[in-house]
Amino acid sequence: MDYEYEDTEERLISSSRQDGEIDAENVLRPKTMADYVGQTKVKENLEVYIQAARIRKEALDHVLLYGPPGLGKTTLAHIIAAEMGVQVKVTSGPAITRAGDLAAILSNLSEGDILFIDEIHRLNHSVEEILYPAMEDFFLDFIIGKGPSARNVRIPIPHFTLIGATTRAGMLSSPLRDRFGVICRLEMYNKEDLSDIVRRTAKMLGTEIDNDAAEELAMRSRGTPRIANRLLKRVRDFSMVRGLSSVNLAVTKEALDRMEIDEYGLDSTDIKMLTALIDKFGGGPCGLETLAASINEDSNTIEDVYEPYLLQLGFIARTPRGRVCMKRAYDHLGKKMPETLSQLSFTLGEEK
Ligand SMILES: Nc1ncnc2c1ncn2[C@@H]1O[C@H](COP(=O)(O)OP(=O)(O)OP(=O)(O)O)[C@@H](O)[C@H]1O
Ligand SMILES: [Mg+2]
Repeated sequence: MDYEYEDTEERLISSSRQDGEIDAENVLRPKTMADYVGQTKVKENLEVYIQAARIRKEALDHVLLYGPPGLGKTTLAHIIAAEMGVQVKVTSGPAITRAGDLAAILSNLSEGDILFIDEIHRLNHSVEEILYPAMEDFFLDFIIGKGPSARNVRIPIPHFTLIGATTRAGMLSSPLRDRFGVICRLEMYNKEDLSDIVRRTAKMLGTEIDNDAAEELAMRSRGTPRIANRLLKRVRDFSMVRGLSSVNLAVTKEALDRMEIDEYGLDSTDIKMLTALIDKFGGGPCGLETLAASINEDSNTIEDVYEPYLLQLGFIARTPRGRVCMKRAYDHLGKKMPETLSQLSFTLGEEK
């Protein structure tokens, strides 16, 4: 499936990368595991695997990183390369159009190198088939010639590590997924970790920020470092124009309110989606496509960008029959939940 996040390009709280953000992100990216805030479980496991591979003087096993946009997959891939002390070659699923391109990339790697494939769920099938023997046995399989004279040749390639990143682990074919020895799911960040990230970024930008202001930003960043960094920059603008020496809570709240980001980090599109679910579909269940069409959004964008956070907040739930709105969302919007739905929420594990 081919799609872009075009519709969200201008949204402040979009977790996908926006124009001009690439260079800025590279500067802010932590370079070592010690600098990489949060994701303790993933980090601790990876550190063990990295250390073991180094002791054995072998390439690290193939790693799949998955989770919503902006949580630090690309950052982590570069840190793994740095900690292994190897080169990293970066490409992405949609960029490799022909099997021959991938074969060329693979045969140009050195022993132990890392090949980072972003959006790996978007590799096409013929390219993916080249990867299977390469990942498993470090061979490229080719057929040379045509008809009766055709023959199979195997070309050895260096022992490399593939790091794949995806926002959609479910869209990976199972033969590909099975070939990753290490599968890491990145979680949304909690308030403490995000406050640390905000303070770290502020320091790198040469900006003073009060602790309560950093916490406020953390609360409104949808558990996502990319959004936290982006909002900090906008809040810093307000603070500078006001002539403040340090970003304080009052200016942070004012700036975020002006940007129409509420205390949970929701913006007008989230509110539109929840309101549609409640007012047009009686709180659900409502199919993803129907919901997306009703608010004029792309269903992939909803699934990748909006939904993970609303699910995390416990504002919506996914059921086999579609999305349902939970009591917390009714409360947040100041709407009353119908009795019949309260029962459903209860069976879904939501407190009444
Ligand atoms: N654990 C972390 N600690 C500090 N900063 C982080 C962390 N994770 C991510 N960031 C910041 O968030 C930004 C976005 O991270 P990154 O580009 O790695 O996300 P991603 O998961 O690859 O997103 P996408 O799915 O869009 O490719 C980085 O520039 C970095 O500054
Ligand atoms: Mg990335």
